[in-house]
Amino acid sequence: MARVLTGIQSSGRPHLGNILGAIVPAIHLIKQNKEESFVFIADLHSLTTSKDGDVRKQNTLAVASAWLAFGLDIEQTTFYRQSRRPEVAELTWYLNCFTPFPMLANAHSFKDKAERLSDVNAGLFTYPVLMAADILLYSADLVPVGKDQMQHLEMTRDIASTFNRIIGEEILIIPEARIDEVVKTIPGTDGQKMSKSYNNFIDIFLPEKALKKNVNSIVTDSKPMEDPKDPDTCNVFKLYSLIATEAQTKQMRANYEGGNYGYGHAKKEFMQLILDKYAEERKAFDYYMNHPEEVEKKLTAGEEKAKAVGQEVLEKVRAKLGFS
Ligand code: ADP
Ligand code: TRP
Repeated sequence: MARVLTGIQSSGRPHLGNILGAIVPAIHLIKQNKEESFVFIADLHSLTTSKDGDVRKQNTLAVASAWLAFGLDIEQTTFYRQSRRPEVAELTWYLNCFTPFPMLANAHSFKDKAERLSDVNAGLFTYPVLMAADILLYSADLVPVGKDQMQHLEMTRDIASTFNRIIGEEILIIPEARIDEVVKTIPGTDGQKMSKSYNNFIDIFLPEKALKKNVNSIVTDSKPMEDPKDPDTCNVFKLYSLIATEAQTKQMRANYEGGNYGYGHAKKEFMQLILDKYAEERKAFDYYMNHPEEVEKKLTAGEEKAKAVGQEVLEKVRAKLGFS
């Protein structure tokens, strides 16, 4: 049996990429696995990019609401905010002192921004170490994440092995990444990876009118309505087929190839599919967004549970390092 742990940053509202790439597969894995699991909102990580406290609070609520709306079982899961367990900050410091500089300098998350070093804060640079602490503090075995997080997981494994080797005891559990091969990377409205930072996301929780605008922003070519179209190069088709049934996808493919079917029609169908398929989740999300006190209660209970587990590991680390 394995302990599953995962987190999502509260740097924006959760989008379809987060849902299909992280939330749905994690909930599935947790259900299958049956053991106690850990799901948290990485609000400390969001500070590397976003400094507004009110915005963070609202995004933290949105990420929590999305997990709950998609059916996260909080009886089986310790559900908490990263920032409410200060043990993680302490462990991060210890791990920082076991992390070679070149490893961090090699992280994609840092390298992508390295051409403008003045924009890189030290938190962004040591981001992978905080992520390692998130995982190692709770002795996780399996970490379901999107493909883009693979390198961070490898760093976590490296940091944990280095730590264990130097102190001479297997205190930290070496985790494994679990990447959903079927889903991989969800494209955004412009065909690049869907991401909060590229502003190309589909937000399935938006009210109908705003959702329509969101779906209409998907970029297509300018083929006239009458012409047959290639579904495999179209962003609308790609997104549609990710959430449609096989039969629906087949029908949509035939529509594209048959002609007399415009991108406007395809967008309308994609929009309707979101409304139908996610009707319950949309309702539940709105409910939680409008009842923050209920979400708060669930998170506070999770934070209490997380405390005991984290403190046990931290105590062992402190003892080995001469801090207790
Ligand atoms: P973003 O890029 O929007 O800031 P995050 O880095 O907060 O997203 O990602 C949260 C989780 O969602 C991670 O597990 C990540 O791998 C997954 N994820 C994010 N974007 C996508 C995507 N386009 N396709 C698949 N998974 C994604
Ligand atoms: N870095 C992850 C992301 O951007 C979020 C995250 C932080 C995480 N700590 C984690 C994911 C620990 C899994 C485990 O998506």
